Amino acid sequence: MVDTLLRLQEEWGMPPISAEVADVLRKVPRHVFVPEVSLEDAYATDYAPPVQRTGDGLITSSMSAVRVQAMMLDQAGLGPGMRVLEIGSGGYNAALISELVGVGGEVTTIDIDPEVSDRARRYLDEAGYKDVRVVTGDAEYGVEAFAPYDRIIVTVRAWDLPPAWTAQLTDHGRLVTPMRLRGVSRTVGFDRVGDHLASRPDHHLTVFVPMQGAGAHEERGIAVQGDDIALYGAEEPVDVAALRNSLHGPRKEFWPGIEFTYPDRLHLWTAAHADRYAMLHVAGDVLEHGPSGPLARQPVPVVLADDGSVAVRTKRSLGDGRFEIGVFAYGPRGQDAAQNYIDVLRAWDRHDGSMARIEVWPSGTPDADLPTNRVRVLDKPHTRTVLAWP
Ligand SMILES: C[S@@+](CC[C@H](N)C(=O)[O-])C[C@H]1O[C@@H](n2cnc3c(N)ncnc32)[C@H](O)[C@@H]1O
Repeated sequence: MVDTLLRLQEEWGMPPISAEVADVLRKVPRHVFVPEVSLEDAYATDYAPPVQRTGDGLITSSMSAVRVQAMMLDQAGLGPGMRVLEIGSGGYNAALISELVGVGGEVTTIDIDPEVSDRARRYLDEAGYKDVRVVTGDAEYGVEAFAPYDRIIVTVRAWDLPPAWTAQLTDHGRLVTPMRLRGVSRTVGFDRVGDHLASRPDHHLTVFVPMQGAGAHEERGIAVQGDDIALYGAEEPVDVAALRNSLHGPRKEFWPGIEFTYPDRLHLWTAAHADRYAMLHVAGDVLEHGPSGPLARQPVPVVLADDGSVAVRTKRSLGDGRFEIGVFAYGPRGQDAAQNYIDVLRAWDRHDGSMARIEVWPSGTPDADLPTNRVRVLDKPHTRTVLAWP
């Protein structure tokens, strides 16, 4: 498993895996924590075995893919003697953390689902990690009893970041957490800086089950056409019937001559820079003139006009694994939306390629205290998340 991971990391665009993390991955027996799956599945590099479902089959807990676990452990930068809180349990990841912090360290893991925490406890004991503490409860409130933590690693998708997470970090502690930013998923490593969090240079695309409990947030999509076409993350009202008509009508194509690099970073750039932005989900080829090819199966950032016209990003191959970005315009004012989109893409093309800087400030922080180079501020009940580029 580790050899495959090391071989594939570049192909997958993963950051390099440190020798320390590779060593502990070789040491902890992963299959002990998922006895219900085959050895092959337990040691697959990009598979997250489901461990818990709701009555209607929705997965509420899975053992994260080892690819993601390795990446997050490196984002956390764990070292001997650290005190660590893991949010969302499975046992395996907590065992890896325990190996990384060593005998002088302390590991606590919390899960809201008692069946999940029970099995984590059982398998941790079986694998020889009796020192790892397993707590059942809602991680919205952290685990005050064993705070402060040098590191908090969140393995569930947070929509807002609860104040307890920052408060329970040591002064220079680090939080690694998956986030949703206007419909875009990123796993971000943050340093605590006083009352706020500042992202470290690397953050990555990951997919996690959503948080339950007090911090649960149902992301409401707008159904544009039954279950086939939906919009997520739209902040302004959308004329759904007009949008549906636009998407079924003819389209114009624009190819502004920009090469396509780092698609997931471009998602976040678009989410921050475009006004009237949303993520469009289209199931299969339901649109005759719609975005075809790989885009049809993946959510894509779009720019809307207020009459239901829309501009949709697409791409075409330039050969040698290179791609060019294009924009499809639908509806009477599609061309205006496309022009707005192209302005955002040109700005992307001009910028120096650096990653977004993400800062999370307590809600109620006045604008005057936020970074002056901010591009967008996302306000949620507990936090003001600032997106900026250096
Ligand atoms: C992806 S799984 C955890 C995987 C685990 N860390 C591993 O590496 O195998 C996410 C877990 O978060 C738990 N969870 C969801 N909401 C929670 C909350 N508010 N507090 C604590 N745990 C929560 C779920 O029950 C689920 O078991």
